[in-house]
Amino acid sequence: MVGTYALILAAGKGERFGGTTGKLWTPVAGAPVLLWTLRAFQSHPEVNHIVLVGQQSDLPRLQQIANHFHKVSAVVQGGRERWESVRNGLEAVPVEDGWVLVHDAARAAVSAQLISRVLQTTRETGAAIPALRLPDTVKWVDEANIVRETLPRERRAHGERWQLMAVQTPQGFSVNVLRSAYGRYDSRAGIPTDDAMVVEAFHPVTVVPGDPQNIKLTYPEDLARLEAILMGGGETRTGFGYDVHPFAEGRRLVLGGVEIPAPRGLSGHSDADVVLHAITDALLGAAGMDDIGVLFPNTDPSYRNADSAELLRQAWAQIRERGWSLVNVDVTVVAETPRLRPYVAAMRERISAVLQAEVDRLNIKATTSEGMGFIGREEGIACYAVATLRR
Ligand code: CTP
Ligand code: MG
Repeated sequence: MVGTYALILAAGKGERFGGTTGKLWTPVAGAPVLLWTLRAFQSHPEVNHIVLVGQQSDLPRLQQIANHFHKVSAVVQGGRERWESVRNGLEAVPVEDGWVLVHDAARAAVSAQLISRVLQTTRETGAAIPALRLPDTVKWVDEANIVRETLPRERRAHGERWQLMAVQTPQGFSVNVLRSAYGRYDSRAGIPTDDAMVVEAFHPVTVVPGDPQNIKLTYPEDLARLEAILMGGGETRTGFGYDVHPFAEGRRLVLGGVEIPAPRGLSGHSDADVVLHAITDALLGAAGMDDIGVLFPNTDPSYRNADSAELLRQAWAQIRERGWSLVNVDVTVVAETPRLRPYVAAMRERISAVLQAEVDRLNIKATTSEGMGFIGREEGIACYAVATLRR
């Protein structure tokens, strides 16, 4: 079978980016960096399979993510250096005469057009990489910040004019070419920093125009630019959710995924978390996908006393599969008692963790009903939510 494989490299340490989350797990424009990258290849019609290469400690959560991307055919442990990760990933590419696109997971803004462009030339020539002309002059600088040498931007060689270019990924190869190049590569010749470097000694590598928006998340200051690129354009939609549950003796009170000390909880089939139910419905509404009762029918005994955070997680995974990411959610809880203000921060933390989004995309307000109506008579708690999504 001739297939096209995308090898997504996610096994780096992200040292230059720093932080504790890891750069590929950092939320940007409403979803972790890695998710954006996976979506680009999952949704590309010419890509048949995805091999995901990650650090050993990340393999369980990569496997979990892979469950939502049906093209992922293998999750493989990476190596110490990038090229070792590629070599490991190649072992999970079974076809001999297909195509492989090697891509940095950190390039989350890769466009469908760029993938198509690289693939087309790969099929014609056996090896193609995207590259950009360098707008800046490039210099060698020593540890004391003194310029030691300047690279000429152009050079004459073999009677031709050569120019310095900056290369990106995805880099495309026929599986045979890449496999045999890695098989023959002598690592004593230096550590290859991209795949073309391994191939170019054996097979001509053709350059296609790169994409200036296809930046690699490397330093913390790249995050704002990546976000601006990912947010650019796209469609936004808003959904609305409402839920209400009556108080009941002998039940825990769970709101926004947080257990709140109170003499009574809310009655319901699940844990009766009105906040998470309203949010789930708002998100489903924005995505045009029925409501929580259709997804998780309360006639189904498996949802009895269900953890609503888990239901939200499942609904959100389905929404994301359709290409949506979170712009924001705004919530108003209406409760005469107990006082909710002290728990709002914990709720926001919890919900943002479930949605894998930044905390400031999730706002929660609490109000009383000033003693009026069923809320005022302390018969139950209601919650309103609006959610905006972008695709
Ligand atoms: N990569 C990999 N295996 C390695 C090293 C890097 O799979 N041993 C991946 C990274 O996860 C990244 C891509 O290759 O998606 C490009 O590498 P780079 O941007 O350098 O990322 P890191 O190596 O993670 O960052 P740093 O060099 O700052 O530690
Ligand atoms: Mg690196």
